[in-house]
Amino acid sequence: MKRAIIIGATSGIGREVARALAKRGVVVGVAGRRAERLVELQAEFGEERVHIAEMDVTRDDATERLDALISKVGAPDLLLYASGIGKQNPELDPAIELNTVATNSVGMVRLVVHFLGYVKRSSEYDAKHKAHVAVISSVAGTKGMGSAPAYSATKSMQSTYLSALAQYVRMYDVPAQFSDIRPGFVATEILNPEKRYPMLMTPAAATRHILRGLKRRRRVIIFDWRFKLIVLLWRLIPRCLWERLTIVKN
Ligand SMILES: NC(=O)c1ccc[n+]([C@@H]2O[C@H](COP(=O)([O-])OP(=O)(O)OC[C@H]3O[C@@H](n4cnc5c(N)ncnc54)[C@H](OP(=O)(O)O)[C@@H]3O)[C@@H](O)[C@H]2O)c1
Repeated sequence: MKRAIIIGATSGIGREVARALAKRGVVVGVAGRRAERLVELQAEFGEERVHIAEMDVTRDDATERLDALISKVGAPDLLLYASGIGKQNPELDPAIELNTVATNSVGMVRLVVHFLGYVKRSSEYDAKHKAHVAVISSVAGTKGMGSAPAYSATKSMQSTYLSALAQYVRMYDVPAQFSDIRPGFVATEILNPEKRYPMLMTPAAATRHILRGLKRRRRVIIFDWRFKLIVLLWRLIPRCLWERLTIVKN
């Protein structure tokens, strides 16, 4: 990998992946709303290695900002969509639900579809050198979760959307491939600092799993093995029973 763009690289997993790639000599384009965090990343690795774009994925102009970033970085081998928000929503506050949909679902579609348009037009990609598009969804997309309805539903949507796109690019000969990254709990700002989370992983450990999975071009990357097992078991629970499980609050 020579060039990568990471949307949502100002904190957490996206930032850690961006730093790991930059350390390995990859030219990285990073985007997010917090400009000062982007500048910090650039200062750490230098202007040749890290290019920045202030971007709010919920706004229409995010696509122009992606174009500007691509023109600085060059055609990326990898586009990683790491932007995401997620809150428990016991009051079912509509603002939380709608913002979550706007960031996780609409933002992802906006940027991934725009990028695929670029891939179709660009002479940089072909059957031997496909653009790699990865999205950080979550194991939370496995089932609808009453504690965070929009979060779990948008994560499920991301996974289904990637599956649809994986079929789409084969139907229409678009030189792109996809990875759906589904972490368990990772210690980042998205988690509630007042809560305790089981099987919590550091962003550095999550990044190792992600980079290994991306290198192997895995379509679905779930980590770690305990969450793989949990996902398998979750899937076995019939809907009529799942919807009665009111104790799952994380
Ligand atoms: N941490 C976990 O336990 C966990 C588990 C499973 C899945 N995930 C997923 O991993 C992804 C990354 O989250 P994280 O854990 O690394 O949390 P994080 O530290 O809160 O990072 C979230 C990133 O999303 C960006 N973002 C949020 N809203 C945005 C917007 N409107 N426009 C552009 N960027 C936006 C943030 O940047 P700005 O605020 O600067 O814009 C930040 O860079 C999310 O999709 C999350 O659902 C996390």
